[in-house]
Amino acid sequence: MIVSMRSRSFIVENLETEIAVGERIAGDCARLMNSQPKLIFVPSGLPKRMKDYIAESFSSSDLIEVEDGEGMKSMDGLAGILSSLASHRVDRNDTIGYAGGGTIGDTVGFAASIFKRGIDFVALPTTFLAQIDSAIGGKNGINFQAYKNMIGTFHLPSKIISDVFFLSGMSEIMLRSGLGELIKYFILEPEKFAPFLSSGNVMQTVRSNLETLVFLCSEVKMEYVSRDFRDRLGIRMMLNMGHTVAHALESSSGFSMSHGDSVYWGMLIEAKLVQMMGTDSSDVILNLKRFLTVFKQSRDALQSNIDSLAKYMDNDKKVAGGQVRIPFPLPGKRANVIRMDVGWIGKMLDSNFLDDLLD
Ligand SMILES: NC(=O)c1ccc[n+]([C@@H]2O[C@H](COP(=O)([O-])OP(=O)(O)OC[C@H]3O[C@@H](n4cnc5c(N)ncnc54)[C@H](O)[C@@H]3O)[C@@H](O)[C@H]2O)c1
Repeated sequence: MIVSMRSRSFIVENLETEIAVGERIAGDCARLMNSQPKLIFVPSGLPKRMKDYIAESFSSSDLIEVEDGEGMKSMDGLAGILSSLASHRVDRNDTIGYAGGGTIGDTVGFAASIFKRGIDFVALPTTFLAQIDSAIGGKNGINFQAYKNMIGTFHLPSKIISDVFFLSGMSEIMLRSGLGELIKYFILEPEKFAPFLSSGNVMQTVRSNLETLVFLCSEVKMEYVSRDFRDRLGIRMMLNMGHTVAHALESSSGFSMSHGDSVYWGMLIEAKLVQMMGTDSSDVILNLKRFLTVFKQSRDALQSNIDSLAKYMDNDKKVAGGQVRIPFPLPGKRANVIRMDVGWIGKMLDSNFLDDLLD
């Protein structure tokens, strides 16, 4: 029996990447493949019923359990994946895969891009954040010297299987972690996401529309990615809205603040900075503030890190000549980047800034 599945293929730099979204689709997707991945990396902490489901769906693949989390996105984590590929004699014609969240995805994708100068890989994102964002678009990488995503490559998975079975019974924390990115899509493409995010109980609405939202986010992200895969034209950079501050927040909090919380606060802080630079961002600030109650739990963590953000921003990939480029949407303009002096940001970001912002 073929279960219902939405799928769409995108061609990027002459390579095809296919995204399939549905519930309990992994087995059908595996059967439709010419050959299943030789190895699939899975987080050791993934619930057993999910590991069993992956093993049943991909009966020809070897499952390799790894410790995921931000610690995996490191030289050691990368070396562990590469060692497994070498010891299992993976060759250039093999495909590998991962099932898991953004941390395992970023690391395995990076390993696939450099092992034997690049091998094919398949993604089975299992967190909400990974299904709506991190598994899509082919940015891979690891952290280095406490700085986020400092080393990485562009390498698209040939197939992304977003099976919402993995999201059944997901925790509030996992949902909130993806919500930051979902709100980002809403700010960038309000008309597409307003039916889901503009009123009512947001968490409940998201839970009731997972398949639709995962597919919609995947399509929107790939539309930006396919027009600017290498992130050089300012188009793809819009997807990084809020991320300059978010990455600094994650780093300065020792990764105790989740990616979603950091992205939410990052967007709000960047929007306020944009306003202080003289560009009217009041609509964006207003739209973001609607979600304040959802993120209020992480306000204290934000407060205690606000003073050190500029120091971490100084090492952001987007900094050149002491200036950081902040992507910010303006009406009628798809790509728009505002340059800010990191020294100036450092002077602005203090507890008064937050009081003023959250007034
Ligand atoms: N490459 C990109 O374009 C991109 C985009 C956004 C975020 N990211 C990265 O993604 C990472 C965050 O990803 P994440 O939020 O998925 O975190 P994560 O990978 O750390 O996963 C969170 C936890 O959930 C567990 N888990 C995974 N699936 C589960 C399931 N179905 N049920 C229960 N538990 C499950 C994992 O084992 C892990 O302990 C960050 O490092 C961020 O930088 C990358």
